[in-house]
This record gives sequence, structure tokens and C-alpha cells, in this order.
Amino acid sequence: MRYTTILFDLDGTLTRSEEGITRSALYACERMGLAGHTAQEFRRFIGPPLLDSFRTVLGMSEAEAAQAVAFYRERFSAVGWKENEVYAGIPALLRSLKKNGARIAIATGKPVEFARRIAEHFGLAPVLDAVIGPRPGDERADKSEIVARAARELGGVPVMVGDRRFDIEGARACGVPAIGVLYGYGSEEELLAAGATQIARSVGELSDLLLGDAPRARGVFLTMEGMDGCGKTTQREALVDHLRARGWEVLVTREPGGDEIAEKIRDLLLDPQNRAMCDECEAYLYAAGRAQNVRALIWPALSRGEMVVCDRFVDSSVAYQGGGRRLGAERIAALNEMAVDGETPDATIYLRMEPQQALSRRLSASAPDRLESERAEFFERAFRTYESRLMGQARTLVIDAAQPIEDVTRDMLAALDARLCELAARV
Ligand code: TMP
Repeated sequence: MRYTTILFDLDGTLTRSEEGITRSALYACERMGLAGHTAQEFRRFIGPPLLDSFRTVLGMSEAEAAQAVAFYRERFSAVGWKENEVYAGIPALLRSLKKNGARIAIATGKPVEFARRIAEHFGLAPVLDAVIGPRPGDERADKSEIVARAARELGGVPVMVGDRRFDIEGARACGVPAIGVLYGYGSEEELLAAGATQIARSVGELSDLLLGDAPRARGVFLTMEGMDGCGKTTQREALVDHLRARGWEVLVTREPGGDEIAEKIRDLLLDPQNRAMCDECEAYLYAAGRAQNVRALIWPALSRGEMVVCDRFVDSSVAYQGGGRRLGAERIAALNEMAVDGETPDATIYLRMEPQQALSRRLSASAPDRLESERAEFFERAFRTYESRLMGQARTLVIDAAQPIEDVTRDMLAALDARLCELAARV
């Protein structure tokens, strides 16, 4: 890699922060008694120092602008900082940079406490070496001071990455090359005129510029497990939204199922007409579908650096065929070896619910399929097998799924964020 220290602007470069910034600026105007504005007008506030924006864009005096900044901060620190999302592909890029030994920092004009809070909340913090921005009392620090401080603290061969002329000019003023990105809030003309050494139109182009042919970090493999009726589908949706807001490109797949071929196997397995299917055939079909899903969808997505969320995996076969059908947990695990060829989840979300409760919830939701019509003891055995396979394993995140839905979501996301932090530290 040409550069070994990568300094990222935050707003418009790592995160799409328009909503929080424009709404907080609108709020400040309203508190200053200025009516008739819309949030949209405040897009130009993203990038330059706030005080200057209130003065130049709205023609405020120094004292009025200082008051407006105070109102802005009131709303921003309560809600605005969360009205934000990480651009798609950023986590994969940061992980690849880290894998190749780069040092990474945020170098922002935003007060450093907000930048830190955003980096923590949106899962960026674990891959960063530093977050550098104006400290309290130092609010007028211009971007070149921030970039110079970051370059000094991190050493190496630095480059600045930003979306507005302030980032580019700040970097050039202290002799640091600068890549301008066009997916944020600045234009190509603005960035070239400011002296951008290179331009990236997308996060993908930025990754190519920074990484060249250096190896990319592998993605993260998550699986979800639990008895039928445990609320897995609802929680999967919440999980995927959470990950996408944090910039993950997410491949969602399910088992039985996956690509077209694996979905045909799913139809065979779940068709209530196939009552004569023997247990061994069923076990092989699950494993066959899995072999296809792993090769057609899961591996390619992991090698692109994506997050894979797989609804059920080998643990389901071990629980349902090994325990439920009494084919034996070990035999089923062995039967799946060729299917997965060593692939194991980085984390398994186990939505834990007693089988009776899960089944009664499931049956009240829709007509039972072939498996669900089986006797209660089948589910009892599957549950016990799940318990002995998953509880106490390092990869398992055990979530109490018997709680109200929002509490399950909260616990699941907190456990997942903690695990992603650990995984990021080991990239
Ligand atoms: P789903 O309702 O989560 O899509 O799962 C379909 C059914 O398939 C569910 O009852 C669990 C069962 N199953 C197995 O018995 N073995 C397996 O390996 C998998 C993946 C699912």
C-alpha cells in the first residue's frame, strides 16, 4: 500500500450525516426566531465550521452565530448525532486497511467528543487508532491543524480522505496528500480546485485507491438459531437494519434454502406431501442444500468482505435431525463436514425459547408445515440437543427470546455489537 496512515474526515466521508446536521441547524434557526427555512437548505452546513456557516449563510453577527451554535448543539447532542449512518462498504474497507497494518484515524472539524460518540455507536471505534478533532475550548481549530496533529500522532506515510474542500485544503496546507470522495457533499470541481491528489467516486473506488492489490479482509459469518416460533424472522429484520446502518453490506440467506438449487431442495423438504421421506434422506437433503448455499452464496460474500446472516445452519441439523429424529448429534455433525468444509460461524445468535412456548406461538401464526406437525417430544428432543450444543460455546450469543420483542432486539444487538468489537480487534 502506498499510504500507511489513513486520515478520514467523518461527515460525508465515513458517515451520511445529513439528517442530524440539517435538522439541528433548522432547530437552531427556529430557536433564533428565524421562520420559513427547511432542513434541505442546510446541506451546505456539512463540512465547514458551524460558526462560519451561521455567519456567512444566514448573515448572523458573531454573537448571534455563537448563540445559534449553542442551540444547534442542544439538539445535536440529544438526538442529532444518532440521525446518521455509515456509508455502505466502509467497515469492509477499514477492516482491510487494518489487516494490512495501516494506522487509521478520524480527523474531523466536529468536536472530538461527538466524533468519538458516533464512532463508538456506529461500530467504527474498534478499527480506529485515534479520533482527532477540536477539543473543548479549541473550537476554532481549522482543518489543517487537525490534519497536522493527526499525521504527527500517527506517523507513517499519511493521506487525508475527505468530501469537502476544507479537508483537502487542510491536508495540502500541511503537506499531506488528499483523496477527494464524490459520494459525500462536495463536487469534483470543488475538490480538484482545492488540490485533491486523487478522486474516488464511490467507496469501492476509494478501496481500490487505498488498498491497490493488497489482500482484503474476509467478511463476518453470523448464523441465527432457535426453535420454530422463537421470533427469528422478526429479529433477523431488526438485525439486518442495524448492520446496514453501520455500513455493512449484508447477504441474507436461509436454510434450508439459498440459491435457486438450494431453494428447490427446501421445497422438497418442507412439502407436507412428502410424508414418506425417511429421516436419513431428510438429513442428507439438508446437508446437500447447505453445501450448495455455502459455495454459491456464503463463501463468495465472505470473500467480498460482506456480513453474511444465515437463518439456520449446521446447528439446526444437529438439533432437529440429530436430536429430534434421533439420528445422533455426532453423526449429523459428521455428515455435514463435507457440506461446510470447515466453515464455522463467527457468531451464532441463539434465540432461546422453551419448545412448548415456541411451538404454540408458531402454530397460531400460520398453518403447520410437515415438520411442525411432528409430536411435541420431537421438539423437546431438538431443544435439548440445541442446548447441549450451543450453551457455553464461545461463538454463541444466548438471547432470552421469551421477553417482549423490543427487549429481545435490544439484547441481541448489544451482544452482537460487543462480539463485532472483539472480532474487529482480531482482523
Ligand atoms: P424455518 O422455519 O426457520 O425456515 O425452518 C424450516 C424448518 O426446517 C424448521 O422446522 C427447522 C427445520 N430444519 C431442520 O430440521 N434441519 C435443518 O438443518 C434446518 C436448516 C432446518
